[in-house]
Formats: sequence, C-alpha cells, structure tokens
Amino acid sequence: MDCALLLLLSLWALTGEVSPQESGLCPDRLLGEESRRTCPRPCKADRDCGNKRQCLCDGQCGLSCVAPGRTCPWPLPPSENSEARLLSPTHSFSALLEVRCKPGFALPNGLDASIRRCQGDRQWSGDEPICTETLSSEEPAAAQTCPLPEEIINTFSIQGDATAGTSIRYTCRSGADIVGSSENFCQDNQTWQDPHPICKKVYCQPPREVEQGYVVAVQKTEYEVGFDIHYLCKKNFLLDGPQKVTCLSNGSWSASPPHCRARCLIPAERSRVVVGGVKRWPFDVTDAVVPHGEHVTFYCRHPSKQCSFIATQACFDGKLQPPACYLEPTWLQFKLFPHRLVSEIEVCEPNDVE
Ligand SMILES: *[C@@H]1O[C@H](CO)[C@@H](O)[C@H](O)[C@H]1NC(C)=O
Ligand SMILES: *[C@@H]1O[C@H](CO)[C@@H](O)[C@H](O)[C@H]1NC(C)=O
Repeated sequence: MDCALLLLLSLWALTGEVSPQESGLCPDRLLGEESRRTCPRPCKADRDCGNKRQCLCDGQCGLSCVAPGRTCPWPLPPSENSEARLLSPTHSFSALLEVRCKPGFALPNGLDASIRRCQGDRQWSGDEPICTETLSSEEPAAAQTCPLPEEIINTFSIQGDATAGTSIRYTCRSGADIVGSSENFCQDNQTWQDPHPICKKVYCQPPREVEQGYVVAVQKTEYEVGFDIHYLCKKNFLLDGPQKVTCLSNGSWSASPPHCRARCLIPAERSRVVVGGVKRWPFDVTDAVVPHGEHVTFYCRHPSKQCSFIATQACFDGKLQPPACYLEPTWLQFKLFPHRLVSEIEVCEPNDVE
C-alpha cells in the first residue's frame, strides 16, 4: 500500500461520506501486484449502479458500484503475534483496521503496523499481515561473547570477559594443575577455539609410614582434599611431631608425618643420676628407662680432687650416651664403698671445675 493511498483512505475515514467524484481523488481502476479476487462493477456516477448501490471509490478497483452497508469480517480470529483494532466506528465498507505487531515482532517491510480497508468485496484490503519475531539491534551487540557455562565459572577463575575476538585465561580455583590449554580464544562466531580445560582433581599421596606408629585412617591409594590422618605410636614410643595431618588443596599434606621415638635405657647402674629433677638410682626408675627427649644428669669424678661434677645428656629416639667423663663404678666399689661412689661424694665448688 503506498503513501498516497493511505492518505486517501485516512481522508475518507475523517470525512465520511464525501463523494469521491467531488473530491476527484479516486484512482483509476488499476490492478497491480496486489491482486484482488474481484472488483465490483465500475461506474462513473450513482446512476450507473442499481438502486441499492452507490458509485464509490473502492481502492485499487477505482470507482465501483458498492453496497455501502456491507461489512467485512469482524472480529478477526485472534493472532499470536499481532493485534487488530478498528479505526472506524463500524466494520462496513471503507472502514479502516489497524493491525499492529506485538513488541518484538515486525512485518516483512520492517514496520510494526499496517492499515487495511474494508473493500467492496467484503474483504479487508491487502494480504493478511504476518508479524515475525525481530532480533533487536542492541541484543546481538551485547551478546558478542562466547558462552561460559556455570560449571566452568565455578571451576576456574577466569581472566578476560569472553568477548568475541579476545582471549581468556583459566586458573583452577582449587589450585590444581590444568589439563588442557590454560588459554582460549573467543571466535567471531561466538564459539571457543578450543575445548575448555579441566582441573586435575587433587589428591594427596599416601603419607610416609611411621615406624613404631599407626595411621588411624582407612588405607587408601590416594586421599581427597581435607582428609585427616591421625597418628598413634606403639606403647613406649613417644609421638614427635603432629598428631594429625590434613590433605591440602595443593595435594600436599599439612605437615610431615610425625616420628615415634623410642625410650632410652639409662646407661648407668651403680651411680645415681638426676631424672626429672630427682636424684635417684637408675634401678628405682621404672624399667630404668627415660622417654625420648628426657635429660639425664650424670656425676663424673674430678680428675684430681675428691669431688664430682655433673654432665647432662638427652635421650634421643632410644639413644642415650653416657657423657665421656662418666665412669661406671665397679660392682666391688658399689658394694663395698657405696658412700665413695662418684654420685655420692661432694659436688666440686664452681671454681674447682675450671
Ligand atoms: C566458528 O568459526 C571457526 C573459525 O572461524 C570455525 O572453525 C567454526 O567451525 C565455526 N563454528 C561454527 C559453529 O560456526
Ligand atoms: C601447598 O600449600 C602449603 C600451604 O599453603 C605450602 O606450604 C606448600 O608448600 C604447598 N605445597 C606445594 C607442593 O606447593
């Protein structure tokens, strides 16, 4: 429908019963591409028509004999993508109808509305308008990105905004190693050049075994992040190190496994020693042993004077050496002269020791 015709139709709608002959605006009968099934009988004046008809302008049919009371179909069957409304009080000859596409839809010519006129053949002019969905012009611009599924966003921290023509970098959130390329390119057609990488699932390897100790955990070939392993030592062994280690997110254990340290036999029998601040005979100490880490003070004889001085050694994992100066008294000395044993004589004055 061209503009002149629309103007013409609007004029009619406004002026109502203006005779087209008088206005001189009716086009000649001209059937172009917009084919009409039928045109009423052409005329020049009312007298050319029967008594029930008038010579009126009927669009492309030009002046035609029409019955002005005849109506076009109304209401129209509902349409999904458009809405029709009458622009005229009635739906009889020359009434105008507007068909407007719903938001997001448009006619093939890009407009969102079309006007139809009730013709003399009781049909609305033109073809039935078909509204089709439009992609608004901003949307594709905003959507010039490659998809990043939620699962990928949860797994990786991503540098870059995934717009077409740019690259992104992936880093595993878990700190784990990436399997695949850590970089990807968003192509112009909004697809990724490469498949997304994956994060190697992190496991801790079984920790080293602890001699004389137990691992309080199910034995596995690998342990998940967050898994705790508890350690216990066998009887008479002392735990040296953490009681528990945890599998960290980088696949390491939170600490090295502990050691289970052995007790030490006190390397003296016939001389008193100081253990735990108490001077006592070794045979009075349970099993004559001290725990790992315990200090034992021995008495040594002054090389030239009748006095003793002390030397302290520590028990380390079953090993406790007597100090070099310590001489174990003989059985005879112990039995016959107990009060002359090195641990029983006077302690040297501080300046004697120098
Ligand atoms: C996108 O573009 C790339 C390179 O230009 C091409 O290899 C790929 O097949 C395209 N993918 C799709 C879905 O069109
Ligand atoms: C794992 O992480 C811990 C603590 O964050 C760190 O001390 C350790 O060196 C890391 N180990 C490796 C292999 O990166």
